[in-house]
Amino acid sequence: MTDIQQTPADMGDLRVRAIGIEKSFGDNHVLRGIDFEAAAGTTTVLIGPSGSGKTTILRSLNVLDRPDRGTVQIDHVAVDFTTLPPKGGVARQQIAKLRAQSGMVFQSHNLFPHKTVLENVLEGPVQVQKRPQEEAVAEARDLLEQVGLSAKADQYPFQLSGGQQQRVGIARALALKPRVVLFDEPTSALDPELVGEVLSVIKDLVTEGWTTVLVTHEIRFAEQVADQVLFLDGGVVVERGTSAQVIGDPQEDRTKQFLTRILDPA
Ligand SMILES: Nc1ncnc2c1ncn2[C@@H]1O[C@H](COP(=O)(O)OP(=O)(O)O)[C@@H](O)[C@H]1O
Ligand SMILES: [Mg+2]
Repeated sequence: MTDIQQTPADMGDLRVRAIGIEKSFGDNHVLRGIDFEAAAGTTTVLIGPSGSGKTTILRSLNVLDRPDRGTVQIDHVAVDFTTLPPKGGVARQQIAKLRAQSGMVFQSHNLFPHKTVLENVLEGPVQVQKRPQEEAVAEARDLLEQVGLSAKADQYPFQLSGGQQQRVGIARALALKPRVVLFDEPTSALDPELVGEVLSVIKDLVTEGWTTVLVTHEIRFAEQVADQVLFLDGGVVVERGTSAQVIGDPQEDRTKQFLTRILDPA
């Protein structure tokens, strides 16, 4: 690992940098060299057809999947997977350090059913990060307020709607104070009437200056929040730019076809 904290100029305003990420599952070459950069406080939206590798990119940034090649850097922590030893203490340590830089919000919340909402948010800070209980509770309550769930702190997940559960999932990810928040289709498992409340929470986070990478099929929402949009197909970035460029005025046929299908499903 290159820990370049001592040379912050190298990253400047950059918060996330992926260089040449490649990943195969068996014979399936899923990511074929993914490069992108995201500045601090910006929102990067990944769009593309099912199977194009969007989830695998997020899982590579969070090292839930280990890239075969390439470098992932989040803030001052960089790991070069091309040269990282396949196993052993050093590899484990570097992966743990990089993983701690990001927080993931999944398609469906996986809340602990036997814990209250507050306990679910506290799990990471208290059990994993060993932070002082009192401080963690105060912060968890702030986060619940931020996602509009103060009143639900002592309830159990089964007492919440899907949208509320997903908002708890977001509070859980934020509780670990990640340097970037990764959202993988955070609304696609929700009933349509619950989508808006979750998007509105995400929009608030973006406005507050969180750095986010978001996979979504909510193209109109992407247009509102994205600082950059990457269109993926077949494990490569086919087209990238601002939302006005990629969504408003796509240049590549594959992008045009995808957007037509998704915006105008007939
Ligand atoms: N754990 C895995 N094992 C085997 N194949 C996988 C695994 N995860 C993803 N894939 C394959 O990688 C490809 C890209 O998947 P994914 O990143 O989930 O795409 P997307 O999120 O864009 O739909 C798909 O062909 C998928 O079947
Ligand atoms: Mg996916």
